Order: sequence, then structure tokens, then C-alpha cells
Amino acid sequence: MENPFQETLIQKNRAEPCSVVIFGATGDLTHRKLIPALYNIAACGDLPPQFKVVGFARREKSDDVFRSELETANKKHSRQAHTQELWSGFSQSIHYHQSEFQDVEGYKALGRLLDQFDVERGTTANRLFYLASAPEFFKPILEHLKAAGLHVPPQGKWARVVCEKPFGKDLATARGLNEAVANTFAEKDTYRIDHYLGKETAQNIMVLRFANSIFEPNWNSRYIDHIQITCAENLGMEGGRGGYYDTAGALRDMVQNHLFQLLSLVAMEPPTDLGADAVRDEKVKVIRSLRPLIGPHAVGQNVIRAQYTTGSVDGVARPGYRQEDRVNPESQTEAYVALRLFVDTWRWQGVPFYIRVGKQLPKKATEISVHFKRPPQVPFATSKLIDNSENTLVIRIQPDEGMALRILCKQPGQALSMQPVKMDFRYSSSFGKASPEAYERLLLDAMAGDATLFARRDEVENAWKFIDEIQAAWHKSDTPPPMCEYPAGSWGPKEADQLLAQNGHEWRLL
Ligand code: BG6
Repeated sequence: MENPFQETLIQKNRAEPCSVVIFGATGDLTHRKLIPALYNIAACGDLPPQFKVVGFARREKSDDVFRSELETANKKHSRQAHTQELWSGFSQSIHYHQSEFQDVEGYKALGRLLDQFDVERGTTANRLFYLASAPEFFKPILEHLKAAGLHVPPQGKWARVVCEKPFGKDLATARGLNEAVANTFAEKDTYRIDHYLGKETAQNIMVLRFANSIFEPNWNSRYIDHIQITCAENLGMEGGRGGYYDTAGALRDMVQNHLFQLLSLVAMEPPTDLGADAVRDEKVKVIRSLRPLIGPHAVGQNVIRAQYTTGSVDGVARPGYRQEDRVNPESQTEAYVALRLFVDTWRWQGVPFYIRVGKQLPKKATEISVHFKRPPQVPFATSKLIDNSENTLVIRIQPDEGMALRILCKQPGQALSMQPVKMDFRYSSSFGKASPEAYERLLLDAMAGDATLFARRDEVENAWKFIDEIQAAWHKSDTPPPMCEYPAGSWGPKEADQLLAQNGHEWRLL
């Protein structure tokens, strides 16, 4: 029998000739992620020669100044070494276009510039519009693209839009934004970025589950006791991030998007194929199956929110959250959240999914751990199972990407005593080369027309629907669950440990 996944598994997406227009091109994302990603795609030989990138922003700037600013950034942020030879060729494809976001003439001039590139460079009227500006400009940009007629490609060509996060701040704003996008671009041409989906290890979850025969038969409530997903960060509000973060908080900033995407990949049913819609159909079912947490009691029982107080990370003193730059000294925004969730499907009945995410934790690490049930009977007269001895499959999303399976073994010797050991796979040693950055993969996919690793409208809206109920319990009820505390550099508040202890579980030590 032919493997239906085979064709898709061996395919590599190919970028088509095109122009990429980045709105908000003078911002941090362009410098740290987008240009280094395009440079690395070029370094791997995957960028077609018929390619242009146009930075669209409000400040006056020449092409040369723009290129030289990007060069400085690329030297610092590129995954592969920055070489003068490659940069000088690549930088010739970079242009700067100055315009206000609300000036239709600026968009018409952009259209003329793109037409010119089609002739000079062979970019063939394919256009990728990348919204990397502050989110309040997304709607005006979309409206003006439409007013200037740039959203309609010539026959046989394409015009696509990539939307950066945050995609709304609740269901109402996300719906508003989705409407604005839908007024200008078809859903098939809309690419909502979630950079966690571009991470190599996140993509590997589906391969692990559906291309191996040993995991899937056990991947259910019969064999799995519980699942933990941790996303720890050892930074706080450096670089002026406090201003944005204090309006968002851990739940909106990380859980609604990145953590729910990981949860969906772990909990989804096998898709009928690896096409964009088949995969996203299955992922959205997971989010729709989450047992709702409605009202302050249910939220208080299952969700712990917290802020860090002064402490130290790696021996360096850190301020408390409320003392951070650009954070309201009376802030009610959580910098940490832990959740106990249930996916109400046949497969997952009764299996708790614990999610935790926080700033100023002891280290930066994202991992998923699948904790299997203990054997029904242990046939060794001499010993009982040692504590904390369950089989665990750990998927390390970052850093030190890889997977480890923890099993019990007999210690050598006359006595029968058991010890947990690890079967460990590391990307670095097995593949011998660094994985592409998430943005490399995602930009390449958008230029190739593959939306599988981008969030679909219904995924985003269903996720917000769930998150909004928690926000309402925190901010709109008369009896809101408390804001807990943890010292910077610790693993979070004790209440998050108690949340797991109620079910006889513990957070895995990272
Ligand atoms: C972003 C969040 O989406 O993801 C940040 O806004 C967070 O707050 C970042 O730090 C984490 O991404 P990564 O790839 O470093 O884990």
C-alpha cells in the first residue's frame, strides 16, 4: 500500500518569483527576523533570482541607508554567517518606499514600483504583503491596498497577505480584523503567522505521531496519564516590551496562539492528508473540544495567574513585574499563567493537559512531556515501582531540540533494583546541521502558497472565545481569582504546584 503522506513528506516548498512588501519595515521584527530569514533562504539557494523586497514605512530614508541598517542587523541576527559576497548580491533586491499608511497615493506609487520590478527583475506580478506594523495599522493598510487595487492579481498570478501577531486582543477585535482581511483577501490568500508552527520541532510532532507505528496506538486516555506543556522564559520586560506586554499578559501573548497550537498538534486526530485544510480542520476541533472554563469559580479552580516579585535569574538581580519599565505599578496583568485543561473527546476523556508559561523563570525552555500510565501490575516480588517512575516522552521544542523517552531499567547486579534511564535523540547530533529558523520556513511557505503552518480564521476565533471567558473571570467579575506571586528566578507560584498536586501530579523538572 502506498503511504498517503509520502508525497507530501518528501516535497520541499519552492518560493515562486515575487515581490515581498513589508509594512512597518523600520521595526524590530524586520531587522531581527524577516531580513535575516530572507538572507538565509538566499544562502540556502532557495530564493529565486526574480525576487524583490520592498520596505514600506513612514520615515524618510534612502535605499542605501535602509540597506546599511539591515546589514548591521543581519550581521547580528543571521543564523548562518553573514558574508559580504552574499549580502551584496542579496541587498540589491532590497528597496525602501516611504509613505504614510493612510495615504492612497503612497500605495499607488508602490504599485508603479512593483510593476517596474516585474519588468526589470521578472517578479511576475506575484505579491506578498507582510503586515509587520503596529496592529492598529492593519485595517488601514488593508483598506488602502484595496483602494489602490493592489489586492487583485492579474490572471494566473497571486496576491497574498501575511498578518503578524497579535491577531486581535479578544474575540471581538479578532473578528473585526478577520472581517477587514476578508474584505480584501480570500481566506486561501491569508497567512496568519504563529512562529511556533514554523519551529522544526513543532513540525516534527505530526511526523512523530503519524509516521511511526509505536506511538499512535498508545496516544490516548487508556495509556496516557497526563500531558504537560511548558514554555519558560528567563527574560522579563527588557527592550521596552513592558508597554505592549502590560496590555496583553501571558494568556493573550502566548497561550491563545503558541501554546494552543502546540496543544492542537499533540491532541489532534490524524488528518486525511497533509494539506493545509485537512490539518487545520483537525487542529480546530481540539480547540473547540476544550472544556469551557466559565465564571470565576471554574477559572479559579483551573487557572493560576501570577506576577513575579524581585529576585534573581542566573545570579543577576531582577526587578518585580510591577517595577519593570513601562509597566503600570498597579498592574493586574499576569506574567505567568498555568492552566489545567481537558479536551472533551473520546480519545482524551479524563486526561489533564497542564500548560504553564511565564517570564523571569530560571531558564528559557519549551517542551511537551507526555506522561504514560503505570503498568497495571508490577510482577516483581522484590520491589515496587519507584516514585516518579512513569514512562515519559519529552519533546524538546527549544533549545537543545530533540526527544527523550524515559523508561525503567534494571540496574546491573544481583539484586533487582530499577532505575529510570533515557533514550535520547538530539537534532544537533543526528542531523549534524542547524535547523532553519521558524521565519525562514514560514516565509518560504507563504511564497510557495502553502498555508498549512499558518493559523486559519476559525482556529484564531475559537481560541479567543475560550480565552475571553478567563479574561472575563479575572477582570469583570466581583470575585476574581487572586493574582499570585513568585520571586523572579523561581519556577512560578506555589499555587501552580498545588494545581497539579490536586490530581497527584507534579511539574516536570526542566
Ligand atoms: C512572542 C511573544 O510571540 O514569542 C514574546 O510575544 C515571547 O513575549 C516570544 O518572548 C517567544 O518566542 P520564542 O521563539 O523566543 O520562544
